[in-house]
Amino acid sequence: MSSLLVTGIAELTTWEPERPQQTDAALVVVDGRVAWHGPARQAPAADAAVDVGGAAVIPGFCDSHAHLMFAGDRSAEFAARMSGQPYQAGGIRSTVAATRAASDEQLAANLARLVAEMQAQGTTTVEVKSGYGLTVADEARALAIARQVTDETTFLGAHVVPEGSDADDYVALVTGPMLAAAAPHARWIDVFCERGAFDVDQARTVLAAGAAAGLAGRLHANQLGHGDGVRLACELALVAVDHCTYLSPADVDALAGSGTIATLLPGVEFSTRSPWPDARGLLDAGVRVALATDCNPGSSFTSSMPLCIALAVREMRMTPTEALRAATETGAAALARDDVGHLRVGAVADFAVLAAPSAIHLAYRPGVPLVTGTWRRGRPV
Ligand code: NIG
Ligand code: FE
Repeated sequence: MSSLLVTGIAELTTWEPERPQQTDAALVVVDGRVAWHGPARQAPAADAAVDVGGAAVIPGFCDSHAHLMFAGDRSAEFAARMSGQPYQAGGIRSTVAATRAASDEQLAANLARLVAEMQAQGTTTVEVKSGYGLTVADEARALAIARQVTDETTFLGAHVVPEGSDADDYVALVTGPMLAAAAPHARWIDVFCERGAFDVDQARTVLAAGAAAGLAGRLHANQLGHGDGVRLACELALVAVDHCTYLSPADVDALAGSGTIATLLPGVEFSTRSPWPDARGLLDAGVRVALATDCNPGSSFTSSMPLCIALAVREMRMTPTEALRAATETGAAALARDDVGHLRVGAVADFAVLAAPSAIHLAYRPGVPLVTGTWRRGRPV
């Protein structure tokens, strides 16, 4: 058992209830877990020490929504959108074709590159979805590859109905042989519940089949327009419902009355010129809000949680502290995890070191690479 003392912390965010953030702090890690934190002058001795030189230290980001199992490029679609074309979920099908044509090695390399980008920007936990294979073999292989890098794998066979398939036949495939092949590699099941993808009845069917196979549900809902998806997620007491761009007062009431976390994905609104979700209204109504990148080649090709924080603060009226919590502790909660996303005693020692005296700089200095070190289980990565 060896201990490591981290000193020189100008501001330490632990999310400890009595003092969520403290200045002039130190942190002790033993066996990859936080063993002590407190004022620098009271720091205990340890086997080794590292001085971060006046940096802010935050819990590693928990990016609870990302689509990293894909191949191909949709930059031309992005350029067309910036010239006035609307975002259409049908673009997913072009990534499906490229993903099916890719080798396992190519998919694994693309995944590794994106995970490395995320880590360099302070992300220590990432959820990875399938959903660009849409055949039994392609969905299963995407999840098997994703499982090599994260425990938080999500089966998203119900992303869109593939070209040439009948919707009812496809839902039967997703809930039957595809689920059977995917379930051993997945923890979660997700559905894109939206006009042009799957309706609430189909979503209910897919989530029920997933639950019977031992997969916990989460949902894409209310991204492109108003609909019943958010209320379905609340009715089913799902851990999280993601996007929440178009919400009615009844949706906000349902979220406030349930334990379901609203995961907002500001990279999508930024990249599709859609209205910003009403983060302020949700928080004021008592809803728990998480932030995630939705990293994917169509609607949000960013791997940066700091960018999402900056957008949430500037455009969605979250305070810097609310946004940081949404990107760390509440992101972890959106994955039903309480061992990460905070640095209380006992937490996994996943943290990011910032070239800044406080975490406010994440929103204050958008676009600046402030993360100078990312640590997982008490070791630099
Ligand atoms: O979360 N909304 C559905 N799926 C992705 C977009 C996928 C794509 O455009 O390729 C999303 O935004
Ligand atoms: Fe998504």
